[in-house]
Formats: sequence, C-alpha cells, structure tokens
Amino acid sequence: MIKTIEYLDGVARMIDQTRLPQEKVYVDCRTIEEVGRAIQDLVIRGAPAIGVAAAIGVSLGADGIEADTFDTFYPRLKTQCDALAQARPTAANLAWGIERMKRTAQAHRHLSVDQIKERLRQEALAVLEEDIQINRRIGQHGQELITGDSVVLTHCNAGALATAGYGTALGVVRAAIEAGKRVSVLANETRPFFQGARLTVWELMEDNIPVKLITDGMSGYFMMQGGVDAVVVGADRIAANGDVANKIGTYMVAALAHRHGIPFYVAAPVSTLDLSIASGEAIPIEERRGEEVVNVAGQRIAPEGTVAAYPAFDVTPHALVTAIITERGIARPPYGESLQRLAETG
Ligand code: MRU
Repeated sequence: MIKTIEYLDGVARMIDQTRLPQEKVYVDCRTIEEVGRAIQDLVIRGAPAIGVAAAIGVSLGADGIEADTFDTFYPRLKTQCDALAQARPTAANLAWGIERMKRTAQAHRHLSVDQIKERLRQEALAVLEEDIQINRRIGQHGQELITGDSVVLTHCNAGALATAGYGTALGVVRAAIEAGKRVSVLANETRPFFQGARLTVWELMEDNIPVKLITDGMSGYFMMQGGVDAVVVGADRIAANGDVANKIGTYMVAALAHRHGIPFYVAAPVSTLDLSIASGEAIPIEERRGEEVVNVAGQRIAPEGTVAAYPAFDVTPHALVTAIITERGIARPPYGESLQRLAETG
C-alpha cells in the first residue's frame, strides 16, 4: 500500500504529491513549520491527510519546546498550533487534527513535559492508524450503494494519497471491488493541479483498478451518453445543512449528475463535518495564485500578463447531494438531522 505519510523518529515523511507520478520522492519534515509549508505547497494534500499531517506536526512542534512546566510549555505549543492552522483554510480536518492534539496535551497537564510529549507522539500515531480504519469503514458502507458492473466518476483525488491510506471516495471503489463488483473509474483530470490525472490515475493503476482519464469538461458528455452510473467524491468541509466544499469543479459535476438523474455521493470521515457552520456560505474558500492556472507543468499557456483566478474549492448545495457516506454510516436528506445524529453516535 502507498504510504502517504509516516511518522518516524522525529520525522514526518511524506510522498511529494507535487512530483507524482513522474518522480516518487519523499519529503522529510522535522519541525511544525516545515509541516505547515508542506501543507501549503501541496506536498501533502487532501483533507484527511492534512489532518494527519497536522497531528504529527503538532507532535514535532511539542518536541522542539524546552520547558519545565505545563504552564510554560502549553502557551508556546498553542502559538505554534495557531500558526499551523493558517496553512490552508478550507479543509476542516486541519483544525480538527490540531484541536485533538491540544486536547491531548491539556488532558495530561498533570504529567511531566517529557511525558506529555510522549503522549502527543502516541496520539499522532493513533490519528494516522485510525484514519486508515475509518476509510475502510467508509468503504464498507459506501460499497453497498455501488451496483455491480458500474462506472464511477470522481473528481480530484480522494484516494489513498489524500488520506493515510485506502481513501474515502476511492475507498468506496476499492471496497466495491473487494466485494466482487466490477467497477471502473472515470477520472476528471482536475485542473489546475491535476490531482485526477496525476494522482487518482496513478494510484488506481498501481492497484490494477480500471481507470479512464477525461478532462473536466467531458463529464457532461459521458453522463449524457449513459456512461456514468454514480459520482463519488470526497469533501474538505461539510456544513450542518449538508452543503459540501470540495475541489473546484465539483459543483459543476454535481449539477450535471442531478440533471441526468445520476446519484451524487460524498464520502468523508466525521472529522470533515463542521456542524458549527449552518450552510456552505460560511465555508472559507481558499484563493490560490492565478499563476498556478496560467502555468501548466512549469510551462506558461496563456499570454504574458494574463489575469487568472483560482478559487481552490467550490460548494455543492445539499439539494444536489444524494447521500453522505461516513465511517458511522450513510446520511441522507434532510442532512440537518442525519448529520447531527451521526455526529452524536461517536
Ligand atoms: O487541494 P487539495 O488537493 O487538497 O483538494 C483535495 C480535495 O478536494 C479532496 O477531494 C478532499 O480533500 C477530500 S480527500 C479524501
């Protein structure tokens, strides 16, 4: 299995997702600041993987603090956490991972600082291990929605590379195949970072799962031809009413799926739910540099001086979402009630 991220002795080792599939190289982060930069630069990306990286980052940050008492240790840890939380704004899992680590430190405030650091190391490892188990449970629930012999369209990469392993949306595909169903994937290339072309296609080919690459603008064509049985995507943040923030272009796919009567499923861990936010309108959308749109693989494709926009995510209104698949079960409309119920069953 691909190791997206590992926590070795004093090192967060990540496969560099800016260089896949051409090069399989690893980036070692030794400080919380380095982890923050890796998140910002998309060396590691995908909401659950960001949550895992954040937890490991906090543990590395804690290790670097020299303090004798909790009261001198914790404020410094908190300052580092606040800075890390700024790395990317949309993925709910970033704040989730950081908060979980802060709670761990506080729960062990009676211990020595060295012991707290050890607890934080264990917690970060637990976050990583749990993520893989959570994805397998998402897969188990989700595969029940996939009929045999079907084509699943996905956008971006919500696979092993976007998590600690197995994936959310692609976890559903993997579980359906493990259950004996014949499933193939139609992968949107996902401009401008090409998570679909570079990452989804790569990891599915590594697992011998049939996959066909299309450009984002082709999804409607394939739906109209009857070539798509279901859409399954991941999520960066899900509001209380079921509005879903995910990679830019997801809304377009959802609207088309609705028009063609194709089920549109969102697969995400409960840690991606943000029930403090009533609707998608309040979800912060990351704006990246227009330059990333103008340049493709280091090559300028538009005239010098082109003004380009790059909102990295969009919000799919809950009315277009057929079901939300989590590790605790499947939520269906009305999401205000079903998501709340899932959140409470923890
Ligand atoms: O900018 P990215 O690559 O971090 O965006 C990733 C996505 O939009 C994923 O679909 C989402 O984080 C879910 S990953 C399981």
